Amino acid sequence: MISIKNVFKRYKSGKIYVKALDDISVNIEKGEFVFFSGPSGSGKSTLLNIIGCLTRVTSGSYLLEDKQVSHWPDHFLSPLRRERFGFIFQQFNLVSGYSAWENIALPLIPMGISQKERRKKALLILENLNLTTRADFMAQELSGGQQQLVAIGRALVNNPDIILADEPFSNIDARHVENFENILGNLKNQGKTIIIASHFHEPITKLVDKTFYFENGSISPKQ
Ligand SMILES: Nc1ncnc2c1ncn2[C@@H]1O[C@H](COP(=O)(O)OP(=O)(O)OP(=O)(O)O)[C@@H](O)[C@H]1O
Ligand SMILES: [Mg+2]
Repeated sequence: MISIKNVFKRYKSGKIYVKALDDISVNIEKGEFVFFSGPSGSGKSTLLNIIGCLTRVTSGSYLLEDKQVSHWPDHFLSPLRRERFGFIFQQFNLVSGYSAWENIALPLIPMGISQKERRKKALLILENLNLTTRADFMAQELSGGQQQLVAIGRALVNNPDIILADEPFSNIDARHVENFENILGNLKNQGKTIIIASHFHEPITKLVDKTFYFENGSISPKQ
């Protein structure tokens, strides 16, 4: 489903080039639960962002169901991102000044769904996250763990078939971890493809089918 071949990614920071990914090849099948493990700066988020079409490869190829999306123009990538991917970002990226339910419902706005319908969908998700009581709290009035749950809700509201989560376990307490694991288990049962990045060395949940270890922009053992 996802085929990454000989991918290099370089960032330019001032006059310096940073090599974030160095000849990476990864294959992920539909319905797999994949874990990207590795220390800070090893390239996990960069590859997640490439897979989710948030950034492009410098060289190499990215095929999504045999489509060479690495070369698609931006106006094709935005609808693809919206329809296929659910992102849970490392820094949550909630919009302050918007409530919990409004944040969850944000991806529905470009789809032309009415406010009433958006709220209904968001409340259903909040219920699944055990967060109904915080529906009308502003993003900045939520605890770190609650913000993360809202970020999870926002990633799921579009019913995406690929879920990308960057360090989703770092800010939530044991009770929420269990809750989140149940949600992930349900998503896996529905046949969704799930990719989680974390600096933990051991797979964070028993749901993981495949682990890739990142080191310095490479994957070891080489795939
Ligand atoms: N926008 C950027 N501009 C310049 N360099 C970047 C940028 N994003 C990432 N990098 C560099 O690319 C390398 C890989 O970063 P990346 O964020 O993919 O690592 P990571 O494995 O996700 O780390 P962490 O566990 O800390 O989140 C790092 O050395 C980082 O400094
Ligand atoms: Mg990262």
